[in-house]
Amino acid sequence: MEKVEVKDAGGKLGVMIVGVGGAVASTFIAGTLAVRIGKGLAAGSITQLATIRLGKRNANRFPKIKDVVPLADLGDIVFGGWDIFEENVYEAALHAEVLKKEDLDIVRDGLESIVPIPGVFDREFVRRLNGTHVKPQGTRREYTERLRADIRRFRKENKCDRVVVMWAASTEVYISQSEEHASLSAFERALDNDLAAVISPSMCYAYAAISEGAPFIMGAPNLCVEIPALVELAKMERVPVCGKDYKTGQTLIKTVIAPMLKTRMLGLDGWFSTNILGNRDGEVLDDPGSFRTKEVSKLSVIDTILQPQIYPELYGNIYHKVRINYYPPRKDNKEGWDNIDITGWLGYPMQLKIDFLCRDSILAAPLCLDLVLFSDLALRCGFSGMQTWLSFYFKSPIHDEDSVPEHDLFIQHTILKNTLRRIIGEPTLDYLD
Ligand SMILES: NC(=O)c1ccc[n+]([C@@H]2O[C@H](COP(=O)([O-])OP(=O)(O)OC[C@H]3O[C@@H](n4cnc5c(N)ncnc54)[C@H](O)[C@@H]3O)[C@@H](O)[C@H]2O)c1
Repeated sequence: MEKVEVKDAGGKLGVMIVGVGGAVASTFIAGTLAVRIGKGLAAGSITQLATIRLGKRNANRFPKIKDVVPLADLGDIVFGGWDIFEENVYEAALHAEVLKKEDLDIVRDGLESIVPIPGVFDREFVRRLNGTHVKPQGTRREYTERLRADIRRFRKENKCDRVVVMWAASTEVYISQSEEHASLSAFERALDNDLAAVISPSMCYAYAAISEGAPFIMGAPNLCVEIPALVELAKMERVPVCGKDYKTGQTLIKTVIAPMLKTRMLGLDGWFSTNILGNRDGEVLDDPGSFRTKEVSKLSVIDTILQPQIYPELYGNIYHKVRINYYPPRKDNKEGWDNIDITGWLGYPMQLKIDFLCRDSILAAPLCLDLVLFSDLALRCGFSGMQTWLSFYFKSPIHDEDSVPEHDLFIQHTILKNTLRRIIGEPTLDYLD
């Protein structure tokens, strides 16, 4: 087995979040600050709580991942980032109404000290927001230069050894891949020619991050870091990138239930998923352009898991529908209903109903923490380009054109843990004893 050389995790790790004033980002930051002073439980976080089996089951070696994998210490993280509204993260978190004031007050000073840098924003890409804290009008090339300068300044002022950039900003409208995305040279020409319709703000952030040697994590479903141009840049700069769209609520359930149906060879006729949510994300997704991006991301999972081409008699004619409804009274407390029409022996119909009363940002925050720590680990391991081993965290795992994404949560989990085993020089497990 090829040995992975891992650079030391010492020194400060800068975490710059695009959309730092959003519900996900503020919940992630507040939680991390609380956990690191022993005032919170990091439930949902693999890096903080999960163990990893090393060797055979009867060897009884189940250390915690964080005790054997060289991850950055939570105490070494420095948070910062951009937003298009100027509130500091304490004020933003109060407005998001995810965490209670009494919980935010425990880490109030730390949250108040994080003041967003003005963002790069274009209303053509997020139509429901009217950002007021934005960089002066510029060309796409100028925007990338200013973002790069932000990253360099942040790194210097906070004496960071390394920086990770994470997108937790609003979902941009659906655009398809075009020739300007096909190679780095075409993309850079488009930047120079200010082709604003094909270069989204999120691509400017990703380009800037990778150019500054910072891993980039794409938390929303819009087209961004998976375009060939940015993957080429990531490989050239030896920077890991991953995405996209955090797998938190309904899709998490889907990627557990669908493999169960397939494993038992139960048929599926239809899957109707609907949600109500009332946070700012819900408001943005109320715009058909942004919803289309989310819909594509949410729809892709079932076919890849069930393989209708191999099992036409069970999965050849599935009706799959996803709806998201903006309903302000629920705020961040999303409710997701699934009605699943399945068929059993001799084609007899049955139904499964799932009602998940979840909390969007409470589910997303631990994923953010894991992704930041694992992306930093990947950088120190010398991994570059798309990190498919982090598919576990995403609804639409980015992948090479000639490969198929893996959606089954438990297969993703095995890939994640085997990559960690490889990193620490332990044999990977492909058997169960
Ligand atoms: N919470 C979940 O379970 C979940 C799951 C998957 C994906 N996501 C995605 O994560 C993202 C964040 O979700 P949220 O609930 O925190 O939304 P939010 O609306 O509360 O936060 C988004 C933040 O991004 C800011 N923003 C928008 N465009 C920006 C730009 N160009 N530059 C800088 N800042 C910008 C907004 O001002 C806002 O503060 C959304 O795209 C959402 O679809 C969330």
